[in-house]
Amino acid sequence: MIDEFNLGVQSVPDRDTAYCILGGAEDNEIFEEAGKILREGGVVAFPTETVYGLGASVYCEEAIDRVFRAKGRPNDNPLIAHIADMSGLEQLVTYMPDHALRLAEAYWPGPMTLVLPKLPLVPDSVTAGLDTVGVRMPSDPNARNLLRAAGVPVAAPSANRSGRPSPTKAQHVLQDMNGRIDMILDGGESVCGLESTVIDCSGQGITILRPGYVTAQMIYDVTGIQPAIGYGTVTGATVPKAPGMKYRHYAPKGRLFVALDDDSNDDCNSRIRDAYDKDFAQGRKCVILVTKQDKEFFGNRNAILIGDRTDLSTVAHRVFDAFRQCDREGYDVIYMRGVPDTGVGAAIMNRVIKASEGRI
Ligand code: TXA
Ligand code: MG
Repeated sequence: MIDEFNLGVQSVPDRDTAYCILGGAEDNEIFEEAGKILREGGVVAFPTETVYGLGASVYCEEAIDRVFRAKGRPNDNPLIAHIADMSGLEQLVTYMPDHALRLAEAYWPGPMTLVLPKLPLVPDSVTAGLDTVGVRMPSDPNARNLLRAAGVPVAAPSANRSGRPSPTKAQHVLQDMNGRIDMILDGGESVCGLESTVIDCSGQGITILRPGYVTAQMIYDVTGIQPAIGYGTVTGATVPKAPGMKYRHYAPKGRLFVALDDDSNDDCNSRIRDAYDKDFAQGRKCVILVTKQDKEFFGNRNAILIGDRTDLSTVAHRVFDAFRQCDREGYDVIYMRGVPDTGVGAAIMNRVIKASEGRI
């Protein structure tokens, strides 16, 4: 079912993918080698605090092309350019509006991407022909070491095959990319677990294009500007009730159904229990993604723990990994209770709704 995302996209020939575990005495040599591969037009997957990225030099169009092919990604979706420090901006953007500068000062390095007017030397293949470029300065120390060693801005989408959940562990990258890229750097689990907040600062106001750890409130706090919401929300009319296979992203292979969070815990959980029991009776292999607080309600039904409802960062950290666990364990149907659509919850719900097939 995922393969329909890849129709018409050329495959890549097999190659040897080097797998390097970071955190030891050889780190410096590994970063030097990885930086050299990037400068010479190779593709290297690397850890960041959000999710793993699939890196290529911004200025090497052939390598950018390989990134699109390794992901099976349509090339009308632009990539984010990653920089080690503020001097990297000079190689990418024409100017920084005041409010963008304030955001950068407050939240870089960190899980935030700013969309800014691009310099002509940034290739169209990176920006999908737009006159803007998305820029991010990651905070993960391994990502920063790699970017310094590369000495060029590194274009990097999430290191998953298109349509699959974003990778939060190097093992996820290996599952999707083995034989397709030159090197994987294993820096352990991504701290945040969800992709960066994408903020359009290229026009007059500020628009959030993808919610993440840097929230609307945090943007308002440092700029005094209330950002517009440029993505479909749970309650907004822009999200279809049943997104349908064609629009699924970040998705596990099984069918995911979401019970939207409401005032009554029992209502929400009862809907999940009833749907589970009905599917189970028809011979389907079912599982519920539960938080610590809801686990007991479901008795001995299959469940995977995804964190603590009183601290949604734990759910953000776990949710993509849980989707992949569902795949490994071969579940046909997956249920999840939604979380409140505020703060980091907005980012969680954005991904979960996109991955889901419908609501219960
Ligand atoms: O956390 C992250 O952002 C991760 C890590 C690796 O940095 N990267 C990531 O990249 O999630 P990707 O390619 O999976 O998602 C990039 C998002 C896409 O939704 C893309 O459309 C948007 O950013 N984007 C990139 N450049 C843009 C631009 N110039 N204008 C509007 N949207 C842009
Ligand atoms: Mg992605």
